[in-house]
Amino acid sequence: ASAPAGLVPPHALFGAERRNSTGFDLNDAMTLSRIDAARDTQIPDAAPITVSQPSGTPAPVLNPATGETIAQILEADSATVAQAIADARPWEASAAERAAVLRRAADLYEQNFGVIFATLAREAGKTMTDAVGELREAVDFLHYYANQGEARDGEARGIITAISPWNFPLAIFTGQITAALAAGNAVLAKPAEQTPLIAAIGVRLLHEAGVPVSALQYLPGDGATVGAALTSDARINGVVFTGSTDTARVIARAMAKHMAPGTPLIAETGGLNAMIVDSTALPEQAVRDIVASSFRSAGQRCSALRCLYVQEDIAPNLIKMIKGAMDELSVGDPWLLSTDVGPLIDAEAQDGIAGYLDANRSKILHQTPAPKQAHFLSPTLLQVSGIDDLEREIFGPVLHVATFRNRDLQKVISDINARGFGLTFGLHTRIDSRVQEITDAIHCGNLYVNRNQIGAVVGSQPFGGEGLSGTGPKAGGPLYVDRFFRPKAGEATG
Ligand code: NAD
Ligand code: ALA
Repeated sequence: ASAPAGLVPPHALFGAERRNSTGFDLNDAMTLSRIDAARDTQIPDAAPITVSQPSGTPAPVLNPATGETIAQILEADSATVAQAIADARPWEASAAERAAVLRRAADLYEQNFGVIFATLAREAGKTMTDAVGELREAVDFLHYYANQGEARDGEARGIITAISPWNFPLAIFTGQITAALAAGNAVLAKPAEQTPLIAAIGVRLLHEAGVPVSALQYLPGDGATVGAALTSDARINGVVFTGSTDTARVIARAMAKHMAPGTPLIAETGGLNAMIVDSTALPEQAVRDIVASSFRSAGQRCSALRCLYVQEDIAPNLIKMIKGAMDELSVGDPWLLSTDVGPLIDAEAQDGIAGYLDANRSKILHQTPAPKQAHFLSPTLLQVSGIDDLEREIFGPVLHVATFRNRDLQKVISDINARGFGLTFGLHTRIDSRVQEITDAIHCGNLYVNRNQIGAVVGSQPFGGEGLSGTGPKAGGPLYVDRFFRPKAGEATG
């Protein structure tokens, strides 16, 4: 379908053709046997990977589905961070050589799918569908940014700090690093505390492909120690961050205090994402897309649907159908191919959302049973009167539903915009003029019509929001790599 005016249409930005060729398909017998073979893959322990000998503090890594310790990690201390900054050297290779190394890394990622799937499942609680999607996205980022870096002629900024979240612990981690490396920068990469192992695997593969250690150092650890040190040092020339809006504010303040004015910060942050379903929508299609947008990845996607608005006259039937679809969800062991919803990432996330549900018990319309172990939480449907009832981004499998009358549509849109976020937005309607009208009015980065609102594809659907949801430029889009080059212009005559 063609996109409404004012939107970038889906198109091939990969150059000759979109790559996304990992070949993993959960309907394919070969893929299934490869996943089965990966089940017992040993997950390696990890420590900082730096030029100088690192030091730090041991910390356990937990399996969110069982609560068991699966490995030990040495978290970097502040002396290691300081030494890593001193050791960092921009990548002295031509743009074509860098691109070739990144493409080699993409191949290594694909070849090492076994340990990657095993680590994503055990460390991050990823279902197999999500693990396949995550590896594909990481490989896509490697190819896309290799192409983008090769097509440009420019100077690296210098040293870039890359700080990533646990919910896309390979894809976002790899995307940030690759964009900075494609422009020739040195990268100091800090993964989230919860997911250092999959990040260490990615860094090892990038080094094996040919990225020098001085151009890519790996510094696991917490935000208060490693993150703060990496965002408050005058030798850093740029920060790329994905995570919560609150952490982005802390980083922006630290950078303003310690770094040169104008040091770029790319921050991709949270969302209070809405969907509007009007009475012309196809109910079966809408329900499928609502359930996928809210509950896939246990709702632990920045793009996930948080507040659904259903037109009043179809609401009773549609809500009944949503409840029926929720009853079909299988919540449990991420390794099982039949599992739709895995665990929350940790006890803090689980306790936070369980407390929120307790406080809002009277609004609960429906819940799907979940295992009573470790960090599982029942997918939950809550009745609200509108997006103003949501105190904050609830980063889990909780869908809020409100109804609206046709004459109040403008108010619904202004209420959504007034919250100040602007990440994803979904619309189900068969009225063409309404698509255009809402497209023009809604504040968001990624708008999806008559489909789900998760899973942006690198190159085809550049991803990122506005307002409280992020600074831009969009990840997986044509402007992203530019931010990692120095903005230098020159002219010579005679
Ligand atoms: P978070 O902000 O708690 O942590 C993200 C990273 O920041 C981690 O590596 C953490 O250690 C680090 N950090 C924490 N404090 C820091 C500090 N003071 N200085 C420097 N670094 C610090 O977020 P999270 O819980 O890991 O991730 C979930 C959030 O990320 C959600 O809000 C979600 O919407 C958002 N997210 C956004 C996108 C996007 O593309 N817009 C994608 C994924 C996740
Ligand atoms: N890029 C991820 C998505 O679109 C966050 O779901």
